[in-house]
Amino acid sequence: MRRKLAAGNWKMNGTSAELDRLATLAERHSAAGCDVLICPPATLLSRAAEALSDSQIALGGQDCHTASTGAHTGDTSAEMLKDAGASHVILGHSERRADHGESDALVRAKSEAAISAGLIAVICLGESLEEREAGQTLEVIGTQLQGSLPDSASGETVVIAYEPVWAIGTGKVPSTEQIGEVHDFIRARLEERFGAETGGSFRILYGGSVKPGNAAEIFAVSNVDGALVGGASLKPQDFGPIIDALAASAG
Ligand code: PGA
Repeated sequence: MRRKLAAGNWKMNGTSAELDRLATLAERHSAAGCDVLICPPATLLSRAAEALSDSQIALGGQDCHTASTGAHTGDTSAEMLKDAGASHVILGHSERRADHGESDALVRAKSEAAISAGLIAVICLGESLEEREAGQTLEVIGTQLQGSLPDSASGETVVIAYEPVWAIGTGKVPSTEQIGEVHDFIRARLEERFGAETGGSFRILYGGSVKPGNAAEIFAVSNVDGALVGGASLKPQDFGPIIDALAASAG
């Protein structure tokens, strides 16, 4: 059985003043039901690790470099994230693909670096609105999946996040049929490439405008193993009920 995962992506939000949100979340969250991951800005990782040391909540970075050390001003390596307390790292988020021109090949190289450092890579895929309207969604997702995942990937080292670009931060959410179609497609592709057992072990998260009000219906869709949540993860009063809905869907 794949354990469900609720992941929060704080993006470029949060200073030390916001660390108390973690304590609120930790108080609310018991280990039962599902895994919880918070990806704060890298500047907060070590203090977040201290704040969560007695909790079951895991921490992740939002990007890493392909190299472990070196002359790369402004970058952060997977080893550094791990050293700061992270167990996961988000890679290939559409905001990085758009703002920093990250290609599938780069995302794959970063994923390899993350896995070698002992981190779990949360690899993001998603089509733009133009691609969806042109009927290219599955083709785009298939190409991103093939190009961004290392051959060494397994459900222990990689989590997939399907995030339609047009649903991120917009309040627009695909229908449950549309989500199910893409998640089933990703599952079938993973099983083709890695075999039924390994392909079946990857968790596939949905991301894009997940809120307390729509979480339960999204979590009821086949092959949805959790969520990657942006805006709503910033507020424990929103993220808490999303975690509860996920735990409830796990039965
Ligand atoms: P959102 O962001 O929940 O604010 O739409 C999701 C994400 O970008 O991971």
